[in-house]
Amino acid sequence: MDGLLTMLGRGVDTVLDRSVVGGYPRWGLALRRRLPDWPADVAPDAMAGRSAVVTGASSGLGTAAAAALAKLGATVHLVVRDTEKGERVRADLAAAVPDATLRVWRCDVSDLDDVTRFAESFGAVDVLIHNAGLLPAERTTSKQGHELTLATHVLGPLRMTELLRPALRASGDARVVWVSSGGMYGQRLPVGDPEYTEGEFTGAAAYARTKRIQVALAPVLARRWAPDGIGVHVMHPGWADTPGVAGSLPGFHRVTERVLRDVDDGADTMVWLAAVTPPPASGLFWHDRAPRPTHLLPWTRHDEPARRAMFDWCVAAAGLTR
Ligand SMILES: NC(=O)c1ccc[n+]([C@@H]2O[C@H](COP(=O)([O-])OP(=O)(O)OC[C@H]3O[C@@H](n4cnc5c(N)ncnc54)[C@H](OP(=O)(O)O)[C@@H]3O)[C@@H](O)[C@H]2O)c1
Repeated sequence: MDGLLTMLGRGVDTVLDRSVVGGYPRWGLALRRRLPDWPADVAPDAMAGRSAVVTGASSGLGTAAAAALAKLGATVHLVVRDTEKGERVRADLAAAVPDATLRVWRCDVSDLDDVTRFAESFGAVDVLIHNAGLLPAERTTSKQGHELTLATHVLGPLRMTELLRPALRASGDARVVWVSSGGMYGQRLPVGDPEYTEGEFTGAAAYARTKRIQVALAPVLARRWAPDGIGVHVMHPGWADTPGVAGSLPGFHRVTERVLRDVDDGADTMVWLAAVTPPPASGLFWHDRAPRPTHLLPWTRHDEPARRAMFDWCVAAAGLTR
């Protein structure tokens, strides 16, 4: 009987996932929490003694993840581009979690020089959450001239992780979590045009193309960083009500507002990946505490040489060496 219930539960979970509207809104997580296979919550002190860096901690899911990690006992480093905003968030979090150790750091993750400055001034880290993100209205470029979603979602985080690698290695159980998006399912790997210079530019496509790159790089990064004991976990939060969604996708936000997840539910899987014991398998794409397929549409598939070419291009563009 238990086996049958588990099988049924897995079927429900898959239907929720593949239907998108079944799984991504707030009822997706609410339903999954009742399924027999739902992984247990982590211990209340699961992050005690651990140090967590959250980029984009000044808003939405980043703030929620920072709060949840602080509640689990982590020292939390809020990486923000606007320190006044960051200090306001820190004060709110300190009031909500009085025992928390919280620190604000300034870093524009799209700016490779600023990432270098930040990483070189930083100390111990066990968990690094690449959450900072944006969906721009027009094609804009970073300080180094890279298309801005590419710089923010891929190049800056890649450089930051590589520069923090010695600190992550020292952790012994380091985890790097990349916040991607279910929107990436609609895009193929832009290996021939990573900077999105060809065709009509839309912010939504740029966003999803770079979120696809995050997912495609996960297995390569997992292999690269495994000898250092660094796990790589890419996830998507479903649809959550954040200032980012309201500001960048007002039409979508108007229609879906009542069914969007709250920020805590949106941040649930990033926090779980950071804190669960034993560490999750590295190199996978996660949503609602389970690994998910990386492709739903056949025309979005890519082969290993394409993945490798994308990785090599990103390494060079991020100013790193192979
Ligand atoms: N909400 C959803 O339904 C959803 C769905 C799929 C994926 N995601 C992903 O979840 C992550 C968080 O998004 P959100 O919905 O919470 O959006 P949000 O409220 O707009 O938060 C985005 C955060 O990223 C920061 N940021 C943007 N560019 C940055 C840069 N160059 N350097 C440093 N920080 C930067 C923002 O800083 P400021 O406060 O200064 O603007 C803000 O703190 C993003 O990666 C997003 O793509 C969200």
